[in-house]
Amino acid sequence: MLEQWKLICKVKDIPPGGARHVPRGLAWQELPGVAVFRTLDDRIHALLDSCPNTGEPLSEGVVVGEHVRCPRHEWHIELETGCAVAPEKGCTRRYNVKVEDGKVYLDLLELNAPASRAEAALAGTYGVAPMVRAYL
Ligand code: FES
Repeated sequence: MLEQWKLICKVKDIPPGGARHVPRGLAWQELPGVAVFRTLDDRIHALLDSCPNTGEPLSEGVVVGEHVRCPRHEWHIELETGCAVAPEKGCTRRYNVKVEDGKVYLDLLELNAPASRAEAALAGTYGVAPMVRAYL
């Protein structure tokens, strides 16, 4: 599958140890967006903005080393894999990221793909994301 990189923001637009929420889909679809995280040493990761526990937005969490700590029940989710750190179980979808010249890109084809079967059913015949907003 070919990649279509979509400019999302600049690295400096994401606070160190924080995240930026990127909406997906049409407003009425109410799909979780993508959380784009910046570690303290400026590495960028992207996960579906939905905790594998009960779906809270991970973009509201805090990056701790290689994990994001979910604000709701404080599970730690690995930024590299999207999986919960043991003893917790479950994973959220991860997204490919490209960083070039201080700018962050996500793969538009990945963003447009349903993140789950339930999401595919919810998105219906309209698909997922005719628009992904960039913030430059
Ligand atoms: S919703 Fe994230 S830890 Fe419970």
